[in-house]
Amino acid sequence: MEESGFGGATVVSFESRLAEAMAESIRRRGGQPVSAPSLREIPLGGNAEAFAFAEKLFAGRIDMVVCLTGVGTRILLEALATRYERQKVLEALGRLTVVARGPKPIRVLKENAIPITISVPEPNTWEEILQTLDQSSRGMSLAGKTVAVQEYGVSNERFITGLKQRGANVLQVPVYRWALPEDTQPLLSAIRRIAQGQIQVALFTNAAQVDHLFRFASGEGLEQPLREGLRQMVIASVGPITSEALQEHGLAADFEPSHQKMGVLVNELADQTQELIREKREGPIRRYVKVLPAAGGAAAPAVERGMRKDSLFLKACRREPVPVTSVWVMRQAGRYLKDYRWIRNRVSFLELCRSKELAAEVAIAAAERLKVDAAILFSDILLIVEPLGLTLEYGSENGPVLSGQKAAPEDVDRLPEIEPAESLPYVFEAVKTTRQWLNPAVPLIGFSGAPFTLASYVIEGGASRSFTQTKRFLYSDAGAWEALLAKIARGLIKYLNGQIDAGADVVQIFDTWVGCLSPAEYERHVLPHTRAVIEGLKGRVPVIHFGTGTAAFLSQFRRAGGDVIGVDSRVELGHAWQALGADVGIQGNLDPTVLLAPRERIRAEVQRILQQAAGRPGHIFNLGHGVLPETPEENVIAMVEYVHELSRR
Ligand code: CP3
Repeated sequence: MEESGFGGATVVSFESRLAEAMAESIRRRGGQPVSAPSLREIPLGGNAEAFAFAEKLFAGRIDMVVCLTGVGTRILLEALATRYERQKVLEALGRLTVVARGPKPIRVLKENAIPITISVPEPNTWEEILQTLDQSSRGMSLAGKTVAVQEYGVSNERFITGLKQRGANVLQVPVYRWALPEDTQPLLSAIRRIAQGQIQVALFTNAAQVDHLFRFASGEGLEQPLREGLRQMVIASVGPITSEALQEHGLAADFEPSHQKMGVLVNELADQTQELIREKREGPIRRYVKVLPAAGGAAAPAVERGMRKDSLFLKACRREPVPVTSVWVMRQAGRYLKDYRWIRNRVSFLELCRSKELAAEVAIAAAERLKVDAAILFSDILLIVEPLGLTLEYGSENGPVLSGQKAAPEDVDRLPEIEPAESLPYVFEAVKTTRQWLNPAVPLIGFSGAPFTLASYVIEGGASRSFTQTKRFLYSDAGAWEALLAKIARGLIKYLNGQIDAGADVVQIFDTWVGCLSPAEYERHVLPHTRAVIEGLKGRVPVIHFGTGTAAFLSQFRRAGGDVIGVDSRVELGHAWQALGADVGIQGNLDPTVLLAPRERIRAEVQRILQQAAGRPGHIFNLGHGVLPETPEENVIAMVEYVHELSRR
């Protein structure tokens, strides 16, 4: 086999009409083609429902039309143009109430000079459509009206029901451009081979192929294996619209050609395939570097929540018995990972946090690589200080640097209330995208700092060893201290609830530096504020309450709240349970430095901690503090394996 071009790689193409030509050009460039047509073109004139709609329209029997999608609206107009005079259609539509669901149908209607009566505001779901109709129909109730709904793909039952409940007669107008091919065997067989890792490259030459592939796979119960298989492959897309469709299914194109042409795609891709395959093998993060901003497809976190309800991790959070101890690693997505460093050489830390696609990819890649039982949002506890007027920078070596006005007692009243929906919307977007792309069986952890730890950063203007300024603030103006922590706590309640709304299954509150306080100081000046945050979440999801150096005041720490208490390695787990009581979970607590030791030692330390936990329900294995940047990633992977292996009961 020649080593240039595809170099013998197996290449699947979903092209239908030009399937043969495609296979031939793959073969010519040294690849082994697999043809899996995923579409059959339906002639526009075959859209019987569209014509039935038109007849009613001309007869004046329709009062309103709702355009749900841009593509569908375009096909509807094109189908009608095959049979009726364009002017006649436009005039008839001009007499109706025309409702456009979002920017895409709006664009198509405008292009065709069709007046839009009602535009639905963001996020353009069926709920907003109904709300908008309710508001704008004050004079005009829907009762008895005939409402035509343009549909493309699956119909939205809840929307249809909503219309019917308002008394409307609903006329569903599905339009088609594509159907499945008559013979779906090649497609099914290709999906199976993808799932089994037998194909290295996938070529998509239009967006409908992507949608059909996934719809078909989902009907066969193969959607998840398909997605996972594709993630290991080189994915080539003919252009941005196709890449956007891939992204809606949690995938990103690794390659787009310089011109949106099939021939160019095959030619340009062939020469880069070997390099792309190598990059894929080395690291999964790279595939999202080229990803386009998402088209705003809404996630449905609630729908899938049931799928992970019985995961090891969520069971442990509820202190239910589990066959194996669950494990994840604080700072699991960080500089110790080769992939992470690769991406950080190209993008700053804040850019990573602010891009929902990159944040999602980094979080998911880490969880997949380590095979841990939960993923954690990629973000930082310090982002929330920015709305307090501080500027945040992350240098390459010395960690975060805050600049701007540090908080002094006399400033507290002037500090604004934190409104995360306004100042940190990208964090919620990152949660949504991570949830959308993450394996639906894997729980996602959201997080924030605790009021004390965040206050210490705001007061010190950075990290500190002795917390001198923080303590001076506390001792010199207790009133201002209470006001500052209360303000931060109010912001955190909104911030964490927002993450839960966006799809976080659990939240962890990091009180990393609280161990610098005495038990009495903790109880009096910190506990009430952390408690306010946890109570503000109203038990919506399990809360992990983490601190380091808390051995001396574990019982107070616990009283602040949390379903699971995170402890560092300076306390024995048996001891911790005695102090905390049996009715709470414990997370921890391998010393992160152990991961720098030889494997046998790591294994022995894992064993020791599991013995201390003694199979108690509610133990979640973790480090006692974040993983160190100099840790070999293979050691972290080995540690996760040891936990699963040694805890099996
Ligand atoms: O996998 C994850 O856990 C990702 C999310 C995450 C980060 N920071 C990313 C990050 C989480 C949960 C945090 C929490 C955090 N951030 C804490 C509490 C946890 C702890 O370890 O005590 C604290 C104190 C911070 C503040 C912070 N951010 C520090 C002190 C530093 C520098 C030190 C370091 O480890 O780099 C950061 C930077 C930071 N936060 C990085 C990451 C991946 C490294 C930044 C880089 O890429 O240069």
